[in-house]
Amino acid sequence: MCGIIGYVGPRDAAPLLVDGLRRMEYRGYDSAGIAVFDGQGGVSVAKKAGVLGNLEKEIGDSGVQLSGRVGIGHTRWATHGGPTDRNAHPHLDASGRVAVIHNGIIENFAPLRAELEAEGIELVSETDTEVVAHLLGRAFAAGETAGDLAASMAAVCRRLEGAFTLVAGHADEPGMLVAARRNSPLVVGVGDGEMFVASDVAAFIEFTKDAVELGQDQLVVITENAYDVRSFTSGEPDFRPFTVTWDLAAAEKGGHPTFMDKEIAEQPQALADTLRGHFDGTRIVLDEQRLGEDDLRTVDKVFVVACGSAFHSGLVAKYAIEHWTRLPVEMELASEFRYRDPVLDRDTLVVAISQSGETADTLEAVRHARRQRARVLAVCNTNGSQIPRESDAVLYTHAGPEIGVASTKAFLAQIAANLMVGLSLAGALGTKYPDEIGREFAELEKMPQAVADTLALMEPVRQLGRELADARAVLFLGRHVGFPVALEGALKLKELAYMHAEGFAAGELKHGPIALIEDGLPVVVVMPSPRAQPLLHSKLLSNIREIQARGARTIVIAEAGDDAVAPFADTLIELPVVPALLQPLITTVPLQILAAEIARSRGYDIDKPRNLAKSVTVE
Ligand code: F6R
Repeated sequence: MCGIIGYVGPRDAAPLLVDGLRRMEYRGYDSAGIAVFDGQGGVSVAKKAGVLGNLEKEIGDSGVQLSGRVGIGHTRWATHGGPTDRNAHPHLDASGRVAVIHNGIIENFAPLRAELEAEGIELVSETDTEVVAHLLGRAFAAGETAGDLAASMAAVCRRLEGAFTLVAGHADEPGMLVAARRNSPLVVGVGDGEMFVASDVAAFIEFTKDAVELGQDQLVVITENAYDVRSFTSGEPDFRPFTVTWDLAAAEKGGHPTFMDKEIAEQPQALADTLRGHFDGTRIVLDEQRLGEDDLRTVDKVFVVACGSAFHSGLVAKYAIEHWTRLPVEMELASEFRYRDPVLDRDTLVVAISQSGETADTLEAVRHARRQRARVLAVCNTNGSQIPRESDAVLYTHAGPEIGVASTKAFLAQIAANLMVGLSLAGALGTKYPDEIGREFAELEKMPQAVADTLALMEPVRQLGRELADARAVLFLGRHVGFPVALEGALKLKELAYMHAEGFAAGELKHGPIALIEDGLPVVVVMPSPRAQPLLHSKLLSNIREIQARGARTIVIAEAGDDAVAPFADTLIELPVVPALLQPLITTVPLQILAAEIARSRGYDIDKPRNLAKSVTVE
C-alpha cells in the first residue's frame, strides 16, 4: 500500500525513480510522483493522479526539468484524501525546499494539522503526509534541530502516531536523504557508490542485491557512499543486512503479457522452491525457529489467522492439520481476531499467514496473540517484513516477488507451507512417525510436476473464460478441501472481473443458495476424488444433479477418469490424480485462469484490479 523509493548516487535520478516505481506499482496506482534535487539548492516535483503512465506523460508534456542525482518517488494507494493530482506525493513544506513521501497512515494527523493551521500555515492537500512535510520544514528551520535533517526527522517521528515509512530530502542538504519507519516496510539498497531506500527490494534490484532491513522506529540517513541507521526513540539502532536471492528477471514480466500470467506459470517453481530443503529425513525444518521442540510439544490448540486468499490457504490447512495432529484448529479472519477476545494461552499456537508480511489486520492479530502469551508461527513470502519479525518461528514461502495484485503463486506456496506446518506439528506431537512424515512430504514433492501438468491442460479453460465474459454471476461449489478452493475461485473472479461471484460449501446449497440458480447460470463445481472420497463424491454428484435440473450451466473440475460425473458436466475440466488433501494445489489453477480470462475478455487490467492494493497496511 503505497510504494516509495529514494536514490542518492551518480545516476540521473528521474528515470531511475520512475523505473523503480514501475516495479512497485502493485502497491498502489492511484497516483505517482517524483521529486529531484538538483544539487544547487533546487528541487523539482512532478506528480499526477492515476497510473504511472500518467506521470510519465506529464513529465514528457510539461517539459519540467527533473535533472539531479538525488530524488524520491512514490506510487499511491489513497487513504487520507482522494486520488487527485493535488493529493499525490511528494508533498512540499511551506518553503518549498523539503519534499516528503509517505506510506502508511498518521493517526494523529488532525491535531497536528490544526496546530500548523493555527500558525498560519496553509495546507494545499488533504493528506496526512503534507503535515509531516511542514513539521519537518519547521524543525529544520529553527529550534534545537535546526540545520540537521536527521535530527529534525527524528523529532517529527516522535510526534507521529500510526504507521509510516517516510522519506525526505531538503534542497539545503542536497547529497542526502533521510528515511524512517514504524509499522511499514523500509529497506536500504547498498550499491557501489550509490544508495537506495524503498518499500521493496524490487525497486532497486537492477542495481544491487545487497540490502539492509530496518527495525521498528528506526531512521536511516543515506549518502552516496554510506548509510547510517539510528533509532528515533530510545532503542538501539536495529538493522539486518541481507542478500536478495532473486534477480531483475523475476521482478519483470519475462515475456508474459501480464505479471499475473507469469506468476500463474511460475507456480510449479514456487512450490518446488517452497518445499526445497524443508525435510531433513526425520522432521520438517522451519526457516527461523525461536521456539524449542518442547514449545511445539505442548501445543494443545491452533488458531490460523489471515486475510483474503491467505485465509483460504489456511482453511485448506485446517483439514490437514486436524487430520494429522488431532489438535483443534480454529480459522479466524485476522481482522476479527483481536476484537472478539479469543481464548489464548501459552499452549496455543497461532499460525499467521501473509504473503506480504505487512497486512495490518494480520500483524495486529499476531501482536494480540503474543500479548496473550500464545506462540506465533508465521508463514510469509517476504523476508524481513514485520509479521515474521514479530513471530516466534517462520516458514517462508519462496514464491519470489508477486507483483500481480491478485494472489496466485503465493497462494499455492502458502498451501504447501501450511501443510508443512501441519507435518512439523505432527512430528513434534508424535502423532506421525518420521517415516510417515517422509511419505507425506514425498507426495508434496510431486506437486510441482502435477501443477505443471495441470497448466498444460488449460487451453479449454481460457476458451471457457472467453465464453463467460458476459455472464452476470458465477457460483462456485466445493466440499472438504474443495470448499476453500470454491471460495478462492469466487474471490479471484470478484477482484479481477468485478463480477458477482460466491463460493459455497456444496452441502449448504439446499439451505438457501439454491434459490439463486436460474437458467444458464454458470456454476463451477470442484469435485472430490471418487477414489479417495467416495461418499463426498456421491453427495456432490447429487448436488450437481439438483442444480442442473434447475437450469444451471455446470462446469465441473474433476479428477481424470471420473466417469460418474461426466454426464452431468456441461463443461468438464479433467485434472491429474493427486492425494485428496493436496487437490487444492491443482484445482485452484483452472479457477485462477478462468477469472483472468473472463476479466481480460471484459477489457480489464488483471494486474491492477480497481480499488485494490497488494499490501494492505491499514486496518
Ligand atoms: C487476493 C489477495 C488478497 C490477499 C490478502 C492478504 O487475491 O491477494 O486477498 O491474500 O490481502 O494479503 P497478505 O497475504 O499479504 O497478508
